[in-house]
Amino acid sequence: MEKRKIILDCDPGHDDAIAMLMAAKHPSIDLLGITIVAGNQTLEKTLVNGLNVCQHVGIDVPVYSGMTLPMVRKQVVAENIHGETGLDGPVFGPLHKQAEPIHAVNYIIETLMASEGDITLVPVGPLSNIGMAMRMEPRIIPKIQEIVLMGGAYGLGNMSPAAEFNFLADPEAAHVVFTSGVPIVMMGLDLTNQTACTMDVIERMEAVGNKAGKMFGDIMRFTYKTQNEAYGLAGGPVHDATCVGYLIDPSAFTLKEMYTEIDISGGPSYGRSVCDYFGSSKKPANAKVGITLDNDRFWDMVEACLRMYP
Ligand code: RIB
Ligand code: CA
Repeated sequence: MEKRKIILDCDPGHDDAIAMLMAAKHPSIDLLGITIVAGNQTLEKTLVNGLNVCQHVGIDVPVYSGMTLPMVRKQVVAENIHGETGLDGPVFGPLHKQAEPIHAVNYIIETLMASEGDITLVPVGPLSNIGMAMRMEPRIIPKIQEIVLMGGAYGLGNMSPAAEFNFLADPEAAHVVFTSGVPIVMMGLDLTNQTACTMDVIERMEAVGNKAGKMFGDIMRFTYKTQNEAYGLAGGPVHDATCVGYLIDPSAFTLKEMYTEIDISGGPSYGRSVCDYFGSSKKPANAKVGITLDNDRFWDMVEACLRMYP
């Protein structure tokens, strides 16, 4: 099986951590590096969280520290969902793993420029690192095989009535990405909210009986509460993990091609992914947008990845 080379760009973040656990171990994925961005919490916190997750379960992948702030707008974080640390719930030991010495944006540029054009970017936080890389070195754009991202929605937002958190946290970066011409798979809230992690799922993954299964439980028990309080969901959706699930088995998902534009006008829909679901704009589609997933197959994938840990 040809491994899919990816760079996972994330803002850990509870669901980011699940995406990390899956991407690091599945045999169909070659996780080249993990780049961290400010998002769910400040960069200082998301970086520590990313390093802690890797160290705790033994993910031996380089981690790079990225953008501290969005490209233009004032920073927002999601403390109401992810807590003061950005990854409230699990308890980690003393941290020894360190970030690599180069900036994440430079790592993304250097890695893509040296590649054969066979690397997929998997951003699951605000798109600040990706947008900045595209602006700093536009020659990377034809070198990106595909972008499989978590963000946006063709329906309701979650950070504002109109906009999803990752896109609202850095709308201008999302605009750069969606106007780049790079093939995009967009897993928006309409798809990702279908993965509400119920107590049954939490107990199923904890029963795997290793550190990864225990960490899954500690992580998802926290957002079980915050996501139910905030949105009345039956559990915390593992938004970001759907991107890795798609890479592992795209046949478990249905997508719909849509022209998608990011609202950067600064009004009440600032940061909204305006998705042309019915094609009324007659503009050519620039994204394949997630519509449905086979939940049973998805959770089977998650469990299988957790079982790959010692
Ligand atoms: O809106 C959900 C997204 O925002 C997820 O990526 C979650 O981790 C937060 O970053
Ligand atoms: Ca995230």
